Amino acid sequence: MDKRPSSLKRITNKKAAEAFIRKQVAEIQKQVKDQKVLLALSGGVDSSVVAALLIKAIGDQLVCVHVNHGLLRKGESEQVIEVFRENLGANLIYVDASNIFLKELKGVADPETKRKIIGKVFIDVFAKEAKKLKDIKFLAQGTIYPDILESKGVKAHHNVGGLPKELNFELVEPVKYLYKDEVRVVGEALGLPKNMVYRQPFPGPGLGVRCVGAITKDRLNALREADAIVREEIDKLKDKPWQYFCVIPDFKSTGIKDGKRYMGWAAIIRAINTRDAVTAKSYEIPYKTLYKIRDRIIKEVPGINRVLWDMSDKPVSTIEWE
Ligand code: XMP
Repeated sequence: MDKRPSSLKRITNKKAAEAFIRKQVAEIQKQVKDQKVLLALSGGVDSSVVAALLIKAIGDQLVCVHVNHGLLRKGESEQVIEVFRENLGANLIYVDASNIFLKELKGVADPETKRKIIGKVFIDVFAKEAKKLKDIKFLAQGTIYPDILESKGVKAHHNVGGLPKELNFELVEPVKYLYKDEVRVVGEALGLPKNMVYRQPFPGPGLGVRCVGAITKDRLNALREADAIVREEIDKLKDKPWQYFCVIPDFKSTGIKDGKRYMGWAAIIRAINTRDAVTAKSYEIPYKTLYKIRDRIIKEVPGINRVLWDMSDKPVSTIEWE
C-alpha cells in the first residue's frame, strides 16, 4: 500500500497548510512542467482543493471539466462556475449532461442499477470531453488518504480509474496522503469559500439516491427545492449535524387544497451525526426548525403535501435511503 510519509506532520493550522501548499506547488510544477492537466471538478471538497492547488501551481495549464449530471443540489454547479471560472480564472469546461442522465435513468427503480448507470454515464461523458482535448498527458484526482486506506483509490462517483485505457493518463494526486480535515485546512488556506470547504458529505450519485425509485424530472426538481430548504434552515443552527438532507419516495398520498382532494409527494427530512458514517445517530432537530422547514416546504415546493422526519439510527437504517 502507498503509505503516508512519516515526515508529513498533521496539518492543523494555516501555517502548516501554507508550507504544504508551497511544497506541493513545487512538486506539481516539477512533475507536469509545461504540459496540460485534466481534472474532473465535481464541486466536492477534494476535487475543489486539488483544482485550487493546481491553479496556483500551473494556472491555465489545468483544464477542469465540470459535468453537471442533473443530480446536484440547488446552486452547486453555479457555485463551481462562480468560484473557479470567475474568481480563480480557471480554464473550466462546463458540461450540462442532465438530460443524458435522466434519459438513461428513465424507469430504473433498482438502487444498485441506478448507481451503476450514473457511474457509467459519468465516465462516458467525461471520456468524451477528454478525447476532444488533444495532448493531455496528466489527470489530477482528489484522492485522499482514506480512499487509499479503503483501497478504493478513486471516488466511486468519479470512477476515473475506469476511464478507457487508451486515454493513458499519468496521475497527479497532490492530497493523497491527507485526511479530510487536513484537506479542509488546505482549502481554506487556498482561499476557497468556507461553505465549499466545510460542506457536508454528498454521495457521488447525488440526489439520484434520494429521489427514491425511478427518477422523474418533476420529483427531482421538488427534491432539489425541498433539500435546499432543509439545508438553509439547519444551516442557521449553531450546532449543525454532520449530514442533513431531504428524501422523496416514489409514492403519493392524499392531500386537500381549496376544498379538493389531490395526491402529492411526501418530503422526508433526515439529519444525522456520525464519526465515520459506519454508524450514525439521528440528530435531534429543534422543533422550531422542524416546523419552519415543514411550513416552507409545503408553501414553497409544488407537488409536496406531507412532511415527515426520519429519526432512525444506523444501524438499522443506512444514512441514505438507497
Ligand atoms: P449509507 O447510506 O451507506 O452512507 O449509510 C454512508 C455515507 O456514505 C455516503 N454515500 C456515498 N458516497 N458515493 C459516495 O461518494 C456513494 O455512492 C455513496 N453512497 C452513500 C452517504 O451520503 C453517507 O455519508
